[in-house]
Amino acid sequence: MDLGLKGKKAIVLGGSRGIGFYTSSLLVQEGADVALCARGADGVRDAAIKIQAVRPGVKVHAEPADLGDAESTRAFVRGAIAALGGLDILIHNASGFGSDNSEAAWARSFQVDVMAGVRAVDEALPALKASGSASIIFVGSMASKYYFGRPPSAYGAAKAAMRTYANELAQAHGKDGIRANVISPGAVWFPDGSWDKQKQNNPKFYAAVERAIPLGRLGSGEEIARVIVFTASPAGLWINSTHLAADGGQVAAVD
Ligand SMILES: NC(=O)c1ccc[n+]([C@@H]2O[C@H](COP(=O)([O-])OP(=O)(O)OC[C@H]3O[C@@H](n4cnc5c(N)ncnc54)[C@H](OP(=O)(O)O)[C@@H]3O)[C@@H](O)[C@H]2O)c1
Repeated sequence: MDLGLKGKKAIVLGGSRGIGFYTSSLLVQEGADVALCARGADGVRDAAIKIQAVRPGVKVHAEPADLGDAESTRAFVRGAIAALGGLDILIHNASGFGSDNSEAAWARSFQVDVMAGVRAVDEALPALKASGSASIIFVGSMASKYYFGRPPSAYGAAKAAMRTYANELAQAHGKDGIRANVISPGAVWFPDGSWDKQKQNNPKFYAAVERAIPLGRLGSGEEIARVIVFTASPAGLWINSTHLAADGGQVAAVD
């Protein structure tokens, strides 16, 4: 199947590592031009070199930006659209990972998971409308719908807010040819990721999570990227206004 991504222009917010890196790489492999950001300048530079090597002919624009900061977020999106010459796909992948109940964790989660998405969409809307067939993806989490037995924290609540907003965007901007969806990974392993650290430091817990997933292992970065890229692509046109679990059945719920 041709995903129809050749010549499309995509932004990945938080693209230097992990799921954002795999997603950027796959978009480029499929022939899309990609702009990505992250805070760490070295990570951004190294990721850009690796991603460009996947397909030398396409455009890879990479700049450091802090998605916890309003002007940094807006400036990156404006610069990325100018560098790409338009925009068809906006993927908000970064998280503030507010894993406790402190004021700082709530502020970080709200700014990065929610407000960076709001600001990026606001900056990108004219270009997305001009695309005629555009797609917005928020990378969520199954913590937005399921209680994983952890103490209350900002993380799942911020991801749940993102779902409501994505639905409103899809409903309001379908007439402009813009789709919006949330894709929620379950536990995902990749080298040096958060679950790789659990595997090293807490192997019993890691093994219990593996056993709880019907397929008997965690997902991979590539597997999540495929779900994101398909949904974002013209081939995923009829997926709209939805929350898609990409968790290998980790959450044993009907929907
Ligand atoms: N991994 C999982 O098992 C899992 C499960 C469920 C949901 N998710 C969701 O999937 C998404 C990606 O997770 P991941 O595990 O791939 O994360 P990750 O490995 O920590 O990578 C996050 C990426 O975003 C960038 N980033 C983080 N904060 C940023 C900020 N304030 N401004 C700009 N860039 C920022 C990071 O680079 P810098 O640090 O250099 O900024 C990095 O490129 C997140 O939304 C997460 O909630 C992941």
